[in-house]
Amino acid sequence: MKVLVIGGAGHIGKAVVERLSQKHEVLVGGRQRGDVKIDIESPASIEAAYRAHPDLDAVIVTAGHVPFKPLDQLTESDWAGGLNNKLMGQVRLVQLGARLLKSGAVFVLTSGILEKEFIGGAICAGMVNGALAAFVRAAGTELWGKARVNLVSPGPVAEDERYADYFPGFRRVSREDVAATYQRALEQPVSGKVMEVFPEVSL
Ligand SMILES: NC(=O)c1ccc[n+]([C@@H]2O[C@H](COP(=O)([O-])OP(=O)(O)OC[C@H]3O[C@@H](n4cnc5c(N)ncnc54)[C@H](OP(=O)(O)O)[C@@H]3O)[C@@H](O)[C@H]2O)c1
Repeated sequence: MKVLVIGGAGHIGKAVVERLSQKHEVLVGGRQRGDVKIDIESPASIEAAYRAHPDLDAVIVTAGHVPFKPLDQLTESDWAGGLNNKLMGQVRLVQLGARLLKSGAVFVLTSGILEKEFIGGAICAGMVNGALAAFVRAAGTELWGKARVNLVSPGPVAEDERYADYFPGFRRVSREDVAATYQRALEQPVSGKVMEVFPEVSL
């Protein structure tokens, strides 16, 4: 398959690219790095990338930003930023992709453990992840026969030091297990499925 991994130069994305490249033709997408310049916040940028690569079989998203702040500090612009980036960025990749890419295209989106577990400051992250799960279940049904849409929900990745202090007492997951789940979401003939990568949260 010809697979575009948006965010493929990032922490999770690199592991996904490494694994999938053994079997598939993989392009890395991002705003600054990679083979395909694309900004998930911009419908025009997504449309241009899809029109330049109409032969894509699959799009995997390992990008997405949300603000981390407690409720009493989140501004209107924080909420709008989180919604426009991680939620609507991935929604518009599917919506435009279903129209512009070939029939049977596969979309694999990313949410995260904060849909189910709460850590301080993660209220926007949890809300966005929950919305992504609802979107994927609905889109997987509506696009049945035309496209497949699945969601990977990783736990805190062991090798990612940036979040080391944010998940006290949580079991970490390996980059290999996370990457393997993206492969399953890509290749397994299912749609509308949320694939969690946090089998046992607590240590
Ligand atoms: N790391 C974890 O432990 C963990 C756990 C659970 C869930 N997640 C979720 O997994 C996703 C990826 O996390 P990560 O830690 O791998 O991220 P990361 O290391 O920060 O990498 C993000 C990647 O996305 C690209 N990117 C950023 N904004 C973009 C945009 N507007 N359009 C297109 N590409 C964009 C960046 O490249 P450019 O700068 O070139 O655009 C970068 O390659 C996020 O949604 C995160 O919430 C992460």
